Amino acid sequence: MNLIKANGYKDLSRKAANVVSAQVILKPSSVLGLATGSTPVGTYEQLIEWYKKGDIDFSRVVSLNLDEYCGLPPEDTQSYRYFMNDHFFSHINIKPENTHVPNGLAQDLEAECIRYENLIADLGGIDLQVLGIGHNGHIGFNEPGNSFEKATHIVELNETTLQANARFFKNIDEVPKKAITMGIKSIMQSRKILLIANGPDKEEIIHKAIFGPVTPDVPASILQFHPDLTVVCSFE
Ligand code: PGA
Repeated sequence: MNLIKANGYKDLSRKAANVVSAQVILKPSSVLGLATGSTPVGTYEQLIEWYKKGDIDFSRVVSLNLDEYCGLPPEDTQSYRYFMNDHFFSHINIKPENTHVPNGLAQDLEAECIRYENLIADLGGIDLQVLGIGHNGHIGFNEPGNSFEKATHIVELNETTLQANARFFKNIDEVPKKAITMGIKSIMQSRKILLIANGPDKEEIIHKAIFGPVTPDVPASILQFHPDLTVVCSFE
């Protein structure tokens, strides 16, 4: 494991963006696994800045997002598809058809999970997966207690996650209760993983995840077994 301590959010974002840009420069047709949430926003901003300077080319990059709420259309400002377009895709030269987010509106959600998992395989697997971490140790929407064996699947969001995500909605009742998420199995098959965590409130969970016992009670703890994990964190 490569553990990088950053000094503040700006530094974290630059260091994380460096890892992503190195991946894209070395393999222009990289398959990037991407994450939503507040943590990666600065990373995307830094990548956009470097793209605008001409330092990175996303024209051959393919992206696969980790998760999506069930029931929100892409044009809903709270959907993860909207988030990705708004914070990243619309500012770079990635081809829209090369950006993939699970379809939370699919009639048959189980079939959508299978389609997404097959898509990951058809694209040759994920070269670099970017991950945030929840206060309860979740990665994607893999909540504590969820099996390590799962591929892409439907989850019922637990109370901690609903509360954490309520800040983006008018009230907690508007937060969708279900989501589609890549499973731990899908995530662990990525060739490289970049885990980012920012703020004093993430220090305890990062410590547990990286140095504690590997247990489904702390989903991110499984990352200790990944052969190519980089953690960039700042607890300021
Ligand atoms: P955050 O979310 O980046 O908004 O803290 C991380 C997560 O819940 O995965």
